Parts: sequence; C-alpha cells; structure tokens
Amino acid sequence: MSEVLREWSENASAWQKHNATIRTMFAPLTAAMIEEAGITGGRKVLDVAGGPGEPSLTIAETVGPAGSVMCTDAVAEMVAAAETEAKRRGLTNVAFRQCLADSLPFDDNSFDAVVSRLGVMFFPDVPAALREMLRVLKPQGALCFAIWGKNELNPFTFCVQNVISRYVEMPPVGPDDPGAFRFAESGKLAGLLAQAGAVDVRERELNFRLEAPISVQQFWEMRSATSGTLREKLATLSEDEARRAALEVQESVQEFFPNGQMSFPAQMLLISGRKR
Ligand SMILES: C[S@@+](CC[C@H](N)C(=O)[O-])C[C@H]1O[C@@H](n2cnc3c(N)ncnc32)[C@H](O)[C@@H]1O
Repeated sequence: MSEVLREWSENASAWQKHNATIRTMFAPLTAAMIEEAGITGGRKVLDVAGGPGEPSLTIAETVGPAGSVMCTDAVAEMVAAAETEAKRRGLTNVAFRQCLADSLPFDDNSFDAVVSRLGVMFFPDVPAALREMLRVLKPQGALCFAIWGKNELNPFTFCVQNVISRYVEMPPVGPDDPGAFRFAESGKLAGLLAQAGAVDVRERELNFRLEAPISVQQFWEMRSATSGTLREKLATLSEDEARRAALEVQESVQEFFPNGQMSFPAQMLLISGRKR
C-alpha cells in the first residue's frame, strides 16, 4: 500500500466520527458540484474517492429512486464507513466498491456523470485516472472535480499550518506531490483534463463559508484527527508542546467562531468537462 493510502486508511475512523460536521461544512461545495455536472433525477453517477460517503449520499438523494450512485474509494475502511452511513440514512440507490481511481472496475460508457470531491490531488497518476474516468463515462457525460484553492486563501488550513510550522519542520512539498494544494494553481487540473480528451473544460472559483455548529475545541479535535499529515507531526511533539500548539491554534482561529460556531471563508475550484 502506498504511503498516501496508508495515511487515508489510518484517517478513516476519524472521518467517520466527524462525518456529520464534514458533510455540513462542505454542503455548498457538493451543491455546486451537482449543479456543474447537471445531476438531476434518474441519473447514474460514479463518485471516485468518496471517502466516508460524500458527495455520493447527497447525490443519491438528488437522483432519487430512478437514478443510482456508485460510491468508490481506494480504502476499505472508508467504503465501509460510507455504507454504514447510507444504511443509517435509509438510502437504497447507492452501491459501494473499493477500487483505485486509475483502475475502475466498470464497463466503458456506463455513467451519466463522474464526480470526485477533494480526491484527485491524492491520486498517484492523475492523467491515468482522468482517462479512466472518461472511459467509464457515456458520450456527452459530465465530469466534475472539487479541489482546494490556494492555501493562503483558506484560513481553515493556513491558520493551523502557521502554528504547527513553529513547532515542527515542514519539509517543502513539490508541485506534483500528492497533497491538498497540488491543483490550487488556476488552470493546472483543467489543462490535464483537456489533455486527457475531455471537451467543454471549465474552471469555476467557488467562494463560500465552511460552516458547522462546532466550537473552537471541537474544530481542533476534528482537524488534528482527520489530517494524517498533521497527526503525524503532532505525534513528534512532547505533551507540553502539543498542549501549547493546540491552544495557539485555537487562539489563532478564534475570529472564525462568531457566536461560538465555525465560519471560515473558503475558496475552492470546480473543474468540469464532458466526454466527447
Ligand atoms: C479528502 S478525502 C475526500 C473524501 C470525500 N470525497 C469527501 O469529500 O469528504 C480523500 C479520499 O481520497 C481517497 N483516495 C486517495 N487516493 C486514492 C486513489 N488513488 N484512488 C481512489 N481513492 C483514493 C482516500 O482514501 C480518501 O478517502
């Protein structure tokens, strides 16, 4: 198993635990993806790297009983978490499959739309994954990817990084290394999608607020558990350093908790296209 997938499999229980918060805070992103990909009742949709179930489960509600969703992820624990959540919500039009983005176990021309929310930046061979997603799409079918915009525009990430970098050395991240901001540069993923053969490729900047009814302490509990990179860095600190770092992060994000609830400005990119 690659280093990236090992990290995600260790993250799975934390993502499951914080599933409701994650679903709430990314709900505007999911709604924008559904709109960009033109997903409506009756459509057959593939979600690649669906983690513990989003945007799959929201899309399952959108496509209704006449439609269906195939929720996939490389990590078995993530797929199991998504399945548990679907059962809890009584959704019967979603199926689940553990698979890699660059090796999808589906026939050519199978889906009306393929989506991936915050997943593509972690794939080892992105051009191969894009070609594979185009292969399983029906002609004229839609693709939509949601990715993080620049770190400096997202206090949800940079406030934490600024504090942690004072405690732990942050090795430089190469522009093509798997990681949250790999495609933050405008045009980068859109260019790869066009090279893979998609048509009508476009990029939309989505400015919204990451909001959820959680306190500063709950924010830190979630952030420190759901990011593998952060968890590994925190594990190298002494108990005292870890306590101080946690307090400093909570102080630095305080302004984004008006009325005691989380509300960060965020910028993400939606990259969409169509199969010829
Ligand atoms: C940031 S999470 C996003 C999960 C979910 N889509 C969401 O937005 O909440 C990234 C997901 O990508 C999955 N992943 C990473 N590399 C993958 C690959 N090569 N193929 C399929 N899934 C992969 C991880 O297991 C993880 O669940």
